[in-house]
Amino acid sequence: MKVASTKVNFDVESIRKDFPILSREVNGKPLVYFDNAATSQTPQQVIDAIVDYYSRYNANIHRGVHTLSQEATDAYEQARIKVQKHFNADKSHEIILTSGTTHAINLVASGFSSLLKENEEIIVSALEHHSNIVPWQMLCEKTGAKLKVIPMNDNGTLNMEEYEKLLSEKTKLVFVNHVSNALGTINPVEEIIRKAHNVGAAVLLDGAQAAPHIKANVQELDVDFYVVSAHKMCGPTGVGMLYGKEEWLKKLPPYQGGGEMIATVTFENTTYADLPHKFEAGTPDICGGIAFGAALDYMNAIGFENIATYEHELLEYATEKLLEIEGLRIYGTSAEKTAVISFNIGDIHPYDIGTIIDKLGIAVRTGHHCAQPVMDYYKIPGTVRASFSFYNTKEEIDKFIEAVKRAKTMLS
Ligand SMILES: Cc1ncc(COP(=O)(O)O)c(C=O)c1O
Repeated sequence: MKVASTKVNFDVESIRKDFPILSREVNGKPLVYFDNAATSQTPQQVIDAIVDYYSRYNANIHRGVHTLSQEATDAYEQARIKVQKHFNADKSHEIILTSGTTHAINLVASGFSSLLKENEEIIVSALEHHSNIVPWQMLCEKTGAKLKVIPMNDNGTLNMEEYEKLLSEKTKLVFVNHVSNALGTINPVEEIIRKAHNVGAAVLLDGAQAAPHIKANVQELDVDFYVVSAHKMCGPTGVGMLYGKEEWLKKLPPYQGGGEMIATVTFENTTYADLPHKFEAGTPDICGGIAFGAALDYMNAIGFENIATYEHELLEYATEKLLEIEGLRIYGTSAEKTAVISFNIGDIHPYDIGTIIDKLGIAVRTGHHCAQPVMDYYKIPGTVRASFSFYNTKEEIDKFIEAVKRAKTMLS
């Protein structure tokens, strides 16, 4: 994989050339894209992988003897191995390719409906995205299990003393995000996993917001399930991963029935395929899976340590500049954060700031960020969220700061 230059010294200007969208204008101004926590942009190398698939070997996989089908199958299974290597899973069949994080969480939640008993307990955290709350509520409704919540502290960290108090022999599952999408907090996942395992509970980490910044090692973490979406890490939408320890994936029943996930079918009886196919009913997003692999190649060529160091510089620079604006409050001030800043200015509505700065070419997210409980905790309707990626620059942050100041003047 060719990256503009393989960055030992991080060269953001040449990296930016890999992303065609970064040279477009919005409302007559150069685009400043600070909505990376919602979805990241796509480098030419990934776009090329997509074009190559549809131009040269578009075919259905796993069932054809013809050359195109075999080429597509090989590329798709190669992508699974790239994902396995990236997250350091022990076996490639522990990687289930899903349509994204939400699909992966629902797959696990649905599977646990046959394993959980009434009055057993599930723990989630106060920092969760709705996709890590609602499936567990639905599971509790079905099984009579109880949902417990790890409370948060004012600085956007989790209250770990309370977590410890919630754990008991009734706890069967713990679900937390590795990184909060609303605030950027990096949660102490090693401790969370260790303590859950001490009471015999399984742990699912939602890595949707961690994966673009941190290379998680699932074996070192000893996590039971880890889920991500490719579109937040330079890949396409519509594809993601569920990592599950083999023992768990064997225990869980299939999520959906259909082609691909069976071994034999008669009207009397069906037997299921082995892992990973047991969880991959129907034709998958073949091109998406292959492009996910290309995205991992791209990010690994830049290097996750380079990415983390550079993004941290952007975070510190932007935080300092934003705090110079009178009346501005940042939500989420943990020492361990990814490059996400959620803020409000006085009682100005976040939508108003977002709308004005869009006119200046700047894309940020405004609202509750699918984390209404976090907003309820702070008693606010939402925030302005600027989230940076390794292809952003300090010059872009300067433009953003000027735009926010202008919005403040117009709205005060
Ligand atoms: C922490 C977290 N979990 C889950 C999701 C849902 O991801 P997707 O919509 O790709 O399934 C998101 C998306 O923003 C997220 O930030």
